Amino acid sequence: MANLADRIASFFSGNDSNTDEGLRDLFISELKSVYYAEKRAVDALGDQAEASTTNEVRSAFLAHQEQSRIQVERLEEIFRIIGIKIDTHLSDGIDGLIGDAKRVISETESGSLTRDAGLIIAAQKIEHYEIAAYGSLLTLARTLDFSQSAELIEKTLEEEKEEDHKLTILAQSFVNKRSKEEEEKHPGSHHASRPVPHSSDSDITLGGPLGV
Ligand SMILES: [Fe+2]
Repeated sequence: MANLADRIASFFSGNDSNTDEGLRDLFISELKSVYYAEKRAVDALGDQAEASTTNEVRSAFLAHQEQSRIQVERLEEIFRIIGIKIDTHLSDGIDGLIGDAKRVISETESGSLTRDAGLIIAAQKIEHYEIAAYGSLLTLARTLDFSQSAELIEKTLEEEKEEDHKLTILAQSFVNKRSKEEEEKHPGSHHASRPVPHSSDSDITLGGPLGV
């Protein structure tokens, strides 16, 4: 009997006909759940834009909403390419993250910068979910030699990564703005003198979009 390493290698190289069937089912199941997530994200981005305080945050959400509509169409194209009916799988993961974003809106004051900070954090959590989902889908598509689908998924994955980066930059400029306002209100206070993270320092491994 093949050892574990050989079995894993054959699984991921797609050389095992039994696993090939299983991987195709897994691909379809993941496709349906990312389709569900993307459609929910389109609606959620509209709510987040409406609730946001600053024009910068609002336009970032609206621009990504437009991009997400195109991503939904790309997923529909993949359903057509592999010849299955367009369908969704419910996903508790995205439902939970969108629920968190809604809670930010209900728990923060309308017109406050705190609300925008909370919305950026919630949006970036959704982005990370999508990056994980598209990344896995891409690996499956490549393993199964679904090259046309892989190309479409890769395009979306790159867009999601860029969006994640944009949110990080937005969060940093937001922290700068907040610091400046605090400095004006309370000159010399320790809040204002707190160092603002540099863009190259900010990474998901360093604690999140606000880099703190
Ligand atoms: Fe998306």
